[in-house]
Amino acid sequence: MEAISQSAIAQYEKIIRSQLERVQRMKEQGDFVEYEKLDKLIIGVCGGDGIGPMITAMAEKALRAMLKDELAAGKVEFRHIDGLTIERRAELGCAIPPDTLEELKSCHVILKGPTTTPRAGDPWPNVESANVAMRKELDLFANVRPVKIPEEGIDWRFFRENTEGGYAVGSQGVQYNDDLFIDFTIATAQGCDRIARLAFDYAHKTGKKRVTCVTKANIIKTTDGKFLKTCQEIAEGYPDITFDDWYIDIMTAKLIDEKRRRDFQVVVLPNLYGDIITDEAAEMMGGVGTAGSANIGKRYAMFEAIHGSAPRMVQEGRAQYADPSSMLRAAVMLLEHIGQVGKAQKLERALDHCMFEDKKFTITGRDTGATAEQFTDYVLETIESL
Ligand code: IPM
Ligand code: MG
Repeated sequence: MEAISQSAIAQYEKIIRSQLERVQRMKEQGDFVEYEKLDKLIIGVCGGDGIGPMITAMAEKALRAMLKDELAAGKVEFRHIDGLTIERRAELGCAIPPDTLEELKSCHVILKGPTTTPRAGDPWPNVESANVAMRKELDLFANVRPVKIPEEGIDWRFFRENTEGGYAVGSQGVQYNDDLFIDFTIATAQGCDRIARLAFDYAHKTGKKRVTCVTKANIIKTTDGKFLKTCQEIAEGYPDITFDDWYIDIMTAKLIDEKRRRDFQVVVLPNLYGDIITDEAAEMMGGVGTAGSANIGKRYAMFEAIHGSAPRMVQEGRAQYADPSSMLRAAVMLLEHIGQVGKAQKLERALDHCMFEDKKFTITGRDTGATAEQFTDYVLETIESL
């Protein structure tokens, strides 16, 4: 039997140490920021790559319109952060340039356009995804993704754990030799607890009657097992809410079961399953371009689209036809998160009207449909008439 290489053991040790440090930080963390108590709320705006700057500008336009009184009174400030482009990340060889990270940390909430994630074969060095890095750096542990299809009575809200699972050390796997490749998946008691609590709290506050946990705990027994057990324990504190659990494979099937799928309400799940199933769900709503997402932490929060930067649309000169609805939905969630619930509802109502009911302008991604700006103006004008 050959001796196990010391460098592999050292890497394993490094991972354990860094995760124990993370646990310590979670234990020491305070409670959620109360935005209402701030003298001034700073909203960072990061356009990202590809179609990102175009659709982010549309969401900013909507937010400026919704928050015009607060802006005039100096209670809200927009701060543009330009350093997160793929060119700059590639040049510096890092997921988030250090000066950009400092700028991000000077804000309370961030509106972020999609950023390009390099993959093998790309012209870019294989730097870690900026999304994933931001979620980790700012400890944005909950990725909240609503999907609704009103005509079918579907109103789902996914609570995807955002800092653990396969993503926690996804770029630190071990290639032991030419034959053996190992990645790691992580769960912590604190990480499972905080996402499960947020999902149940949300259900409780909004009168939802059901919370569903999705894992593969029959196979991934340690980490998914912990996730499921934590949800089961927290469910005991909410006797009025029905709790059930499904495995991810059958859950993906149930989402296309038209007789059953409307019964799901709040879904809580580990990172990778949440990534996959929210694309599936968004596709049912009208495509990944229609879904927004909130990345919530106790100190920071970031709001984004659930899709990528679509560089091909830019190469083909079609960026102005990109669908801004994902970022407009992200703006709704931002308003909700900062306590502007009434304004969030107005913008959401107008978006629903334009997307599902009136449909005067539709987005096709080409010159056969409306531009992002026409659609955004249509939504903003609709607010006045509803
Ligand atoms: C998402 C995206 C990201 C993820 C990518 C771009 C890193 O797919 O937000 O769902 O995998 O989380
Ligand atoms: Mg995804």
